[in-house]
Amino acid sequence: MNPFKFGDPVEGDFYLPRENLSKLVSQFLMNHINVVLIGPRRFGKTSFALNLLAYFHENSFSTLFVDVFNMTSHKDFLHQMLRALHTKKTWLDNLKGMGKSLIRTRPKLNAAFDPISGQPSFSLGLDTQEDKDIKEQIQDVLTLLESLGEQVIIVIDEFQKITEIDDNGWLEATLRTHMQQMKNTSFLLTGSRRSIIYDMLNNSSRPFYRSCQSIEFPAFGEEFTNWVIGRFSSIGVSCDRDAVNHLRKLVQDTPNYVQMVCFHLVAEGKTTIRVEEIDSALITVVKQNAYAYQTLLNSLSLMQQRVLRLAAIEGRQIFAKELLVKYEISGSPALSSAIKALKMKGILDEEETGKGTVIFDDPLFAIWLKLTF
Ligand SMILES: Nc1ncnc2c1ncn2[C@@H]1O[C@H](COP(=O)(O)OP(=O)(O)OP(=O)(O)O)[C@@H](O)[C@H]1O
Ligand SMILES: [Mg+2]
Repeated sequence: MNPFKFGDPVEGDFYLPRENLSKLVSQFLMNHINVVLIGPRRFGKTSFALNLLAYFHENSFSTLFVDVFNMTSHKDFLHQMLRALHTKKTWLDNLKGMGKSLIRTRPKLNAAFDPISGQPSFSLGLDTQEDKDIKEQIQDVLTLLESLGEQVIIVIDEFQKITEIDDNGWLEATLRTHMQQMKNTSFLLTGSRRSIIYDMLNNSSRPFYRSCQSIEFPAFGEEFTNWVIGRFSSIGVSCDRDAVNHLRKLVQDTPNYVQMVCFHLVAEGKTTIRVEEIDSALITVVKQNAYAYQTLLNSLSLMQQRVLRLAAIEGRQIFAKELLVKYEISGSPALSSAIKALKMKGILDEEETGKGTVIFDDPLFAIWLKLTF
């Protein structure tokens, strides 16, 4: 069995607990302070949230996990809420037992649940319901959340998607209003788009203005290196500490990519891991993704492509004059607007402090760019 796993959220032996972060976040949640957890892509936000919910569940909290990552509309949001609620079988039965349907006043929403299987029905996506109805149903569902239990913890994963819907901020404001009204419920909101979330929380004209405690999702410390070495040694593979640290640095300390490269090393049957083995496995992994990276690159303007090359190879102080010349960028306004476009596409993000330092959403893409140019 390969002791490494990547891609999907992890638990059990594949998950290294984040004790300090768990303590911190649960303190806030238990005191009814809503938390926004901001971290880079593939850093383990979903795994963390799921593990934390499991802990709360064991301690007799009612919990709900809502994933809105692929949401494109109000209808999708409603559907994801219903899907999450569907896992709460006892609660649904209780509602029925009390003579309440999921939504008392609005039979439409009940119809959204298949009466036989109880599954949220996909007809929700097929018939042409008006946005007005959907909005009412969203409000109804949000109102019901309070009845999930005496103490409720709700996670909304990738919640910045809520702001990306083109509705003049309706969903953002509605969610905020309901959150304020629910006295027994705390929310953990996770997200990866730093600049979007930052504006959401710090712009005084927006509903979430200073409404949540924001916490930076931290990188692992030395314990992660120990854990990786331990996972290797559990199957008799010996691995240098330097090699793991080298790998962590190359992938910007992204646990997903650390596990991915280690997975490949095990799959290739390596029994001793040093820096050289890491380097060649990383190149193999990056090359396996070449097609996707090439497609992405081709979808961008020439100026954006040059800016990406600059960002991948230089990383910081990218506004320096000599760099603009070297990478054939006509001036800093052109650079700024390309960065803005690349941020919108979720390819790059900028450090909140230090202008001129950019971070790749996908560090492997940056490595591929470096290899290719
Ligand atoms: N605590 C952890 N211990 C070990 N590996 C982890 C941990 N958290 C995350 N990982 C690694 O990262 C991968 C992705 O985890 P997860 O899906 O939770 O991250 P995410 O931040 O939600 O990602 P995304 O940005 O894609 O939503 C896992 O498959 C695993 O390889
Ligand atoms: Mg996730």
